[in-house]
This record gives sequence, C-alpha cells and structure tokens, in this order.
Amino acid sequence: MVFGGVSPEHSISCLTAANVVAAMDPDRFRAVGIGITRDGIWTRWSAEEILDLRSQGQLPEVPAGHHGTGLRRLDGGTFLVDNDGGGDPEPVDVVFPLLHGPFGEDGTIQGLFEMTGVRYVGCGVAASANCMDKHLTKVLLDEAGLGVGPYAVIRPHEWQTDPQACLERLSGLTYPLFVKPARGGSSVGITRVPGPEGLVAAIEEARRHDPKVLVEQGLSGREIECSVLGGHNGQPPRASLPGEIIVHNPEGFYDFDAKYLTDDALATVSVPADLDEATTRTVRETAVKAFQVLGCEGLARIDTFVTEDGQVLINEPNTMPGFTRTSGFPLMWQASGMNYRELVTDLLDLAIE
Ligand code: DAL
Ligand code: MG
Repeated sequence: MVFGGVSPEHSISCLTAANVVAAMDPDRFRAVGIGITRDGIWTRWSAEEILDLRSQGQLPEVPAGHHGTGLRRLDGGTFLVDNDGGGDPEPVDVVFPLLHGPFGEDGTIQGLFEMTGVRYVGCGVAASANCMDKHLTKVLLDEAGLGVGPYAVIRPHEWQTDPQACLERLSGLTYPLFVKPARGGSSVGITRVPGPEGLVAAIEEARRHDPKVLVEQGLSGREIECSVLGGHNGQPPRASLPGEIIVHNPEGFYDFDAKYLTDDALATVSVPADLDEATTRTVRETAVKAFQVLGCEGLARIDTFVTEDGQVLINEPNTMPGFTRTSGFPLMWQASGMNYRELVTDLLDLAIE
C-alpha cells in the first residue's frame, strides 16, 4: 500500500493506511508499505510500522529515514525494490493507493501504476483526475442531467488579467459562498464567505492551493453522503446506506478541524442518515449514477446536499475517501452490513479479479 504523500492530507492518509492494515485479513493478504514523505521521498514500511502510526496521535507523519524504495517492472511482474540495491525485491500483486488529494487521488500515481503494469485499487487515471477537479466534476454531472448547485469558476489567467470581471461574474450567486481550490481535499484552503468583504481574500487563499478556483453558492439542506463500491467488468456498482454530516456550530462547516481534530465537538457523521425511504432511495440511485457518469471504479464516496424540497444535489465525489476513525465511508458500509475486514477484502478482490 502507498500512503502519506505530498498533499496537505498527508496525515489523514497515514491514519487511513494504519486502519486499512489493521483490517486486512492476514490469511489472504500480506501488506508491504511505501510511505511517501511530505517532500516526496518514497520509503519502505512493514505492516507493523504502519500500524504503529496510530500511536503518533491525531496527525501522524511519514518521517524521512527509512530505506528508499520504489516500484519496478521486472521479469515476472512488478516488485518493490530498495533504491540502494540492497534487500530482496518483493513481488506486488495489487497496490492500494491510500493517498488523499493531489498526487494520489488525482490520476497521477494511477498513471504510474498503469505504466508499471501493476493492478491497483480504485478509479483509473481519467476518473481520478475528473473527480479531483471540482469544476470538471460539475461539468460532467451537469451534462448528464445530475443536479449540482450554482457555481462559477475562476481560471488562473482570468484572475491575473481581470479580477474585477471575475468578481462581477460572481454577482449572480447568493451569499454565503464557499470559495474552494478546484483540486483539493479535506476542506484545506476552503473559506465560507458570508458577504462580499471577504471574497477577494478567500479567492487568494484558495489560489495558494490551486490556481484554479471554484466559487459555489452555499446550499441550504442536509449534508448527506453515500458510499459506492464496485463497477468493475460491467457489474452495476452498489451503494451503501447514506450517512449525514451533522455540523454543531451553525456558523461553521465541515472543515479540516471539524473532520479530524475536535473529537466530535463540531461535527459528527450520523449513520445511517435519518431519511425517509424515498429520499434514501433517491440518494443511493443518484450516487450510483454519479459514480457511473464520472467513470469511477472500485470505490468513491459521493457527497450530496438534500434540499428542503427533496432535491439531491451532488457536492463532490471522493475517489479515495478517508478510512479514519471518524470517516464516513467505512461507517456507512458497516451500517449496510459489511464490516471493515469484508470491505477491505472486497476492495482488494475487485482490483485483482
Ligand atoms: N478527503 C478525505 C480524506 C475524505 O474525503 O474522506
Ligand atoms: Mg473531497
């Protein structure tokens, strides 16, 4: 498995990896790890070392200092090899890219796996890239007739040449607005903007993470997530029971701190979501359609808003959702009758079959 990485979601990926290793069936799988440091150095990890990441607290890190390692295509398959030439090459049957955000969830490492000829869990190159880019996601969903909320995009050259025209384009949106880096994760770089005063600073903040910025109209409704699995070999994907994000601070949103740092004080995921049968069905059907329209394979968590009049609007897909203690993806599958071990086994089997 590959974890850590250069994205701001490095530590979340470490927690995800530790939880996945803990859930792996030792009779079927043996985990070997590539921990990528924040600087992008690939290091070799044993399963025990990955499990130990949980003892580092809420935000563990891949430190430098392990053996440098890499994937190589050699006679007979793909192997994990030490860069210094020492150690035995270890065969790799399937890679679980437990990386969140840019350079992990965005098609880049998936391209490397394609070139190395190794099987991997999850979405392919194009689906990963399209789902990472919140703008491209909306274009694809909208074209397929799936509901997305009102938004505008600010491309790098537009902001550089005529920021005033960009701001004027946003005047059709109703506050509060959410200003987001187009390609990010775990809400890093996102600002909730209650009125026009904060808009320019929020755009500049988002641009620190991605030169392309998305501005979305805040949607009033319930924040409902649904987990999807499968979609290989023409098989229809399966949707879990939905979960609901309950944000306890009315001025806040489900940001990085609420997700990982506050021990349930600011937000919780309630699973299964308390929805009537018809809405539950619509959410699940919408999640499966979005998964198919976006070309996903393996897994994705589809985040939606259910508006007061019962519309299901898609907020965003996550092609490598978190597997932390508080993450919705495994909790939703548990509520749907699939425990953590079965879930991890299913994901690996889907990639191998
Ligand atoms: N981006 C985080 C890991 C999630 O969606 O769960
Ligand atoms: Mg996301």
